[in-house]
Amino acid sequence: MAAICNVLIISAALAAAPSMATSLVTFVFGDSLTEVGNNNYLQFSLAKSNYPFYGVDYIGGKATGRFTNGRTIGDIISSKLGIPAPPPYLSLAPNDDALLEGVNYASGGAGILNDTGLYFIQRLSFDDQIKNFEKTKESIKARIGEKGANKLCKEAVYFIGLGSNDYVNNFLQPFLADGQQYTHDEFLGLLISTLGEQLTRLYRLGARKMLFHGLGPLGCIPSQRVKSSRGQCLKQVNLWVQQFNSEVQKLIANLNRHLPSAQLTFADTYQAVFDLIDNPTAYGFKVSNTSCCNVDTQLGGLCVPNSNVCKNHSEYVFWDAFHPSDAANEVLAGKLFAELFSHPPSAAPVPSP
Ligand SMILES: *[C@@H]1O[C@H](CO)[C@@H](O)[C@H](O)[C@H]1NC(C)=O
Ligand SMILES: *[C@@H]1O[C@H](CO)[C@@H](O)[C@H](O)[C@H]1NC(C)=O
Ligand SMILES: *[C@@H]1O[C@H](CO)[C@@H](O)[C@H](O)[C@H]1NC(C)=O
Repeated sequence: MAAICNVLIISAALAAAPSMATSLVTFVFGDSLTEVGNNNYLQFSLAKSNYPFYGVDYIGGKATGRFTNGRTIGDIISSKLGIPAPPPYLSLAPNDDALLEGVNYASGGAGILNDTGLYFIQRLSFDDQIKNFEKTKESIKARIGEKGANKLCKEAVYFIGLGSNDYVNNFLQPFLADGQQYTHDEFLGLLISTLGEQLTRLYRLGARKMLFHGLGPLGCIPSQRVKSSRGQCLKQVNLWVQQFNSEVQKLIANLNRHLPSAQLTFADTYQAVFDLIDNPTAYGFKVSNTSCCNVDTQLGGLCVPNSNVCKNHSEYVFWDAFHPSDAANEVLAGKLFAELFSHPPSAAPVPSP
């Protein structure tokens, strides 16, 4: 119930936006599911998607650094909100006016933990992303003064989605230390305590309306299915992910109780993604157990220029071994948006601790 109330609070915050039209500012923190091109600026990063066949179905058929054939869920949500998708942080100069209108800090390969995705050589971890937000706030202060900057940060909406790589490109990799060093309970404890510090740090930097996007059924993504005997979902991985989601919800309830006027929300999309994978035909898809760009067994699961790409990209839920296709993102963004806006703002209850 607490989670539902939280969703109502943020939808009230978001629903107030259309009346302010152009003034809704969003800051996006995340991994390859939300990246729009930061890693293009990291010379040695191996987590890049600025080459074909990424972006083949994007505007102009252009590979931008988005890890899909078309739009991310964030792109689609922005467009539904009637605002431009915020640009990558690393594309902006410190004195750029665009900083006042929202920024995307997401970086493919990034996790909650600093050492997640280390074999990608370079990526911006959540801590790096928060540091970049801190620099953004300094720039905004220099532009419009401290009072204006505080107001902007307080009214902005923060979309946060991290944790997938802490599993897929860390804990679940048998050759990395974390999976050997920790039991799942210990690893989860480390993730949650680290995330608690990170969300608190964002709060101290002025963030109030934060939406944390929970994890999907990672045991069903193509790169995990290939580890099973007959291409099934890995049940244990899905159980771990659901445990993570439930611990994050508790963390968020706790932060809302202890940080005055914090409005953190948890968006639980696990079931929606699972349903799409379990019943692809109900949504007009044909295949959900393998990727359109056939790279299921590659480390990192990325599409490469000589990959075999399926004929009809819209028939596949997954574009590569890790990321949904544009068509799947459209379905998932539609569901998320409906969840955020399914209740009229006037019905938003006062949060009860
Ligand atoms: C992770 O990196 C950030 C900055 O890059 C640093 O402030 C923090 O102490 C690091 N955390 C750990 C656990 O090493
Ligand atoms: C995916 O599912 C189809 C139909 O259920 C099956 O024929 C095919 O072998 C599966 N593919 C993989 C890679 O598991
Ligand atoms: C591709 O697949 C989608 C979804 O199944 C379908 O709606 C569309 O008509 C197909 N396009 C072509 C050219 O076959």
